[in-house]
Amino acid sequence: MRVLVTRRWPEAVERALGERFEVVLNDTDKPLSQSELVAAMGEFDVMAPTVSDRIDAEVIAGGNRVKLIANYGVGFDHIDLVAAKAAGIAVSNTPGVLTDATADLALTLILMAARRAGEGERELRSGNWSGWRPTHLIGSALKGKVLGVVGFGRIGQATAERAHYGFGMKIAYYARRESEAAKALDAEFCPNLDDLLARSDFVSLHVPGGGDTANLIDAKALATMKPGSYLINTARGGVVDHDALADALKSGHLAGAGLDVYPQEPQVPEALLDLENVVLLPHLGSANAETREAMGMRALANIEAFAAGTDLPDRIA
Ligand code: DGY
Repeated sequence: MRVLVTRRWPEAVERALGERFEVVLNDTDKPLSQSELVAAMGEFDVMAPTVSDRIDAEVIAGGNRVKLIANYGVGFDHIDLVAAKAAGIAVSNTPGVLTDATADLALTLILMAARRAGEGERELRSGNWSGWRPTHLIGSALKGKVLGVVGFGRIGQATAERAHYGFGMKIAYYARRESEAAKALDAEFCPNLDDLLARSDFVSLHVPGGGDTANLIDAKALATMKPGSYLINTARGGVVDHDALADALKSGHLAGAGLDVYPQEPQVPEALLDLENVVLLPHLGSANAETREAMGMRALANIEAFAAGTDLPDRIA
């Protein structure tokens, strides 16, 4: 069985894959072009892409040999599931194993934005720090503040737990239905997004990307947010209208934002680059060694199940 791995994976996983299958690795780690992805559909049995590959209908129509797309990552808005299903291609992802890492990063962004850590580091490195003073780079406390969690799946819950137990934040959440797990956190269920936005001091986004959530946080939603509040996004860039966000940060309506994801990565919306009150990270949510290896092993488990003709542990289409 021929497997194409589109980017470098942790060494242990590449080795494990190579011991079991005929694997083509991407030693250069450069993203494949659209035409290379199209061609691969006719040359491999399994394609193992990441969020940096756009597996759209044109790629899927490129050939009829690939029968499994084993995504390295939990989010799958870069894969056209409808086209895959129509072409009889199974699709899997890697849920669960990156929950803690992503929640850790959401807290990193909350803390960095609240405590103006990026601004402080830039000031110091540029030689402009003039020393301690009582009014220097004053941020916001977290204790007692309301964290509004938008989307209360695994990562949203893990973020809420860290914020509540670790930092004494109150939790409110917006989700389709009330969650049992929320009860232990004494979290308030807000079935209406506007209500959540209006009462939260920090809003952290944890919904999947794609058509249903595109620009969920638009100019109107941002205007609904509490004056002086913060927006945190570790989900997908397309969930936020970044021009409107830049306006809300410039006007001071929002005190700050922390972003790890962008609509057209690796491009970062120009309007944000000059703003001091936004923390910008390069999609690091799952980037720790343990997690990245676990993600690869999970993708491998799906490829092995496919090769054995058994049910995929993480089938999404
Ligand atoms: C995912 O898995 O979807 C992340 O965004 C990449 O770690």
